[in-house]
Amino acid sequence: MDNKYISIIEEFLPTLLPNEDCYEKVVTQAMKYSLLAPGKRIRPTLLLAFCEACSGNVYNALPYACAVEMIHSYSLIHDDLPCMDDDDLRRGRPSNHIVFGEDIALLAGDALQTLAFESMLSEEALSKTGINGAKAAGILARAAGANGMVGGQTIDLTTEGKSPSLEIIKDMYSKKTGRLIKAPCVMGCVLAGADERKISAAEGFAENIGLAFQIVDDILDIVSDTNTLGKPVGSDKENGKVNYVTILGIEQSRKKVEELTNAAIRKLDAFENDTEFLRTLAAELAARIY
Ligand code: IPE
Ligand code: IPE
Ligand code: MG
Ligand code: MG
Ligand code: MG
Repeated sequence: MDNKYISIIEEFLPTLLPNEDCYEKVVTQAMKYSLLAPGKRIRPTLLLAFCEACSGNVYNALPYACAVEMIHSYSLIHDDLPCMDDDDLRRGRPSNHIVFGEDIALLAGDALQTLAFESMLSEEALSKTGINGAKAAGILARAAGANGMVGGQTIDLTTEGKSPSLEIIKDMYSKKTGRLIKAPCVMGCVLAGADERKISAAEGFAENIGLAFQIVDDILDIVSDTNTLGKPVGSDKENGKVNYVTILGIEQSRKKVEELTNAAIRKLDAFENDTEFLRTLAAELAARIY
């Protein structure tokens, strides 16, 4: 799909990186290595697309969009560590800890997390977004924290090799993946000063595609190949992860993805502006499993 947002995201991301001319440059290089690696940029794209769907200023929203990508990159660096999924390939390149070592990878993740908040709460960013910028930062903080992504990763790790119910798996998905997808959708609306009705429609869209996104990821771990994904396949099985696909099978899981995607797309009716881009994005994310 032609994603007009990617070029402005990728132009802005490097401007936020810290100084490399210092004794500790290895950590700034490790941050840059993962943040600028070729990801799909779905989360920042969602933020800008929802901002535009609510007639907001996409340029003023850029520090917030890039902040979500920083939190996501940090979560991937840590997710690949030997103490978590122990995967040595990410975005088609050796994982951060393979290149920089576990210690620096851990620190690069930590520093990407604080850089996200530095970017959203800078005087320059807040001078354009005001209280909505502060609200957006709060939304991302909650989404990334103990009852959000970190909580979901905790469920993921502590259920390895066990038999969690579908209800627990759904809770895990909505936290480990869903929250970092819902946050940018809501942040985009909030930055545009949207009303509650639109915010709640964005939430509905995001809850559906967030769940679908992780089911797709789990299906791809089984049916895709390393070259296409840029990360190892078969990692979930190797780690004894129980997920939607292990419980429902691939066909039922594919059906679920289709249902969730259609439900997400229906939520976009709440926006008067053109949402064709978001409809296509949702459909294309689901189409990756065929
Ligand atoms: C991977 O996310 C981690 C999950 C939540 C499944 P993406 O599939 O968005 O990864 P990148 O950013 O494109 O590398
Ligand atoms: C990752 O889920 C979720 C987060 C990084 C928060 P996975 O462990 O399934 O992601 P991949 O498959 O390694 O990208
Ligand atoms: Mg994981
Ligand atoms: Mg993983
Ligand atoms: Mg996965």
